[in-house]
Amino acid sequence: MKINILKNYWELGEVVSDIVEHTLTLPEPKLVLPTGSTPISLYKELVNRDLDWSTTTTFNLDEYVINLNHPHSYNSFMKKQLFDRVNIYPDNYHFPFRPTEAFEDKIKEIDLCILGIGSNGHIAFNEPGSSFESRTRVVDLSEQTIEDNSRFFDSIDEVPKQAITMGLGTIMESKKIVLMANGEHKLNILNVAMNGEVTEDIPASILQNHKNVKIYYCE
Ligand code: GLP
Repeated sequence: MKINILKNYWELGEVVSDIVEHTLTLPEPKLVLPTGSTPISLYKELVNRDLDWSTTTTFNLDEYVINLNHPHSYNSFMKKQLFDRVNIYPDNYHFPFRPTEAFEDKIKEIDLCILGIGSNGHIAFNEPGSSFESRTRVVDLSEQTIEDNSRFFDSIDEVPKQAITMGLGTIMESKKIVLMANGEHKLNILNVAMNGEVTEDIPASILQNHKNVKIYYCE
């Protein structure tokens, strides 16, 4: 698969913003959105563009099993980075919740799904070994992910051990998928996932089976 290499982190935000901007011109657009450090330049750029979000519905890929008002919940992250800064209706943005079947019922006809990639090849919180058929569910986080994400918390003990994540099967139903990766430490796993064997050991490798995927990388 082609990995599009961009000049820098800000260009990554701009290029993916162009795709989001186009999607927002569709009638009642539906987006799936990521968290993590990678999409921050995307959200900054989207806020600057002053787009109309009033008919848009969004679903976040995942959320920790955590108090939603916790400063490091993905809920808080998204409000701070995007939702409190654009004209999206609070009823129109959603995070995975329990019962997960009820959340699944809401996710239909996704126009655009934006993903990051974890250092072990996870997408959303689908850790290595996740079934390619998986749906939204509660998962245990791997030690690697807990360690990677501890940089956002005061100590590693504060990182939640569980999350609710969209499944790989759920993600693959999106009409279009964009994966963003930032930093040299992601290049190896990105190459393995996009050009190596398609295997449940590398969850992101499932994207090789999707017809409409774009991969963007910057160092
Ligand atoms: C978390 C999220 C993923 C994200 C990954 C990478 O684990 N659940 O959706 O892709 O982090 O994060 P970062 O962009 O900070 O490297």
